Amino acid sequence: MKDWDAAYAQGQTPWDKGKAAPPLVEFLSKHTISGQVLVPGSGTGHDVRLIAGQGADVLGLDVSPRAHSAAISFKNFKNANYRIGDFLHLTDDLKNKFDWLVEHTCLCALDPDQRANYVQSARLAIKEGGYLLAIFFREVQAYDGSGPPHPITADEIQALFAEGFDRVTSYTPSEHYDCRPYGCEEVYLFRRCKS
Ligand SMILES: C[S@@+](CC[C@H](N)C(=O)[O-])C[C@H]1O[C@@H](n2cnc3c(N)ncnc32)[C@H](O)[C@@H]1O
Repeated sequence: MKDWDAAYAQGQTPWDKGKAAPPLVEFLSKHTISGQVLVPGSGTGHDVRLIAGQGADVLGLDVSPRAHSAAISFKNFKNANYRIGDFLHLTDDLKNKFDWLVEHTCLCALDPDQRANYVQSARLAIKEGGYLLAIFFREVQAYDGSGPPHPITADEIQALFAEGFDRVTSYTPSEHYDCRPYGCEEVYLFRRCKS
């Protein structure tokens, strides 16, 4: 498994573009994310601050203490909070708590054999009727199997989220970073249902 804290220590964080994910900005220009929100693998917190700026109570969870230090060093809204922790081993106070989970570059950062564990944590974290908004990496340029990031197929998304989630919609976002051309990312909105 990748040593994420070492990557932050060495400044080798090419995923950090210094701003929130464009597909998330696009989503929020049309929809509201409210209530209790969890952002797993939140890094230095750009997505957390964007969502908190709209009024939701947002928790950014990341395994890296250095990412956490960087996140709290920004000017933050008081409804933006951060915690050091492993999303794959969710603590009890984070279970059945969230109205929304916002996924961006956390699932693709995990080893593919950890994906079922990721989905189980998502099922535990989100309240019934809550939402999972995911920006998935459908394609990674020049991918040779040695990620992260690791891309995910539409079939795997469907299989992984078949239990406990209903797909509300999915689409290719118009807004994207220049380095992630149109079609590399796909947005999925799922609703947590009874499993
Ligand atoms: C590719 S980075 C993306 C960070 C942030 N989402 C962004 O776009 O800037 C992946 C992040 O997930 C964190 N991470 C990796 N495994 C994790 C886990 N099991 N639980 C929580 N965070 C994790 C890493 O420390 C890293 O900050």
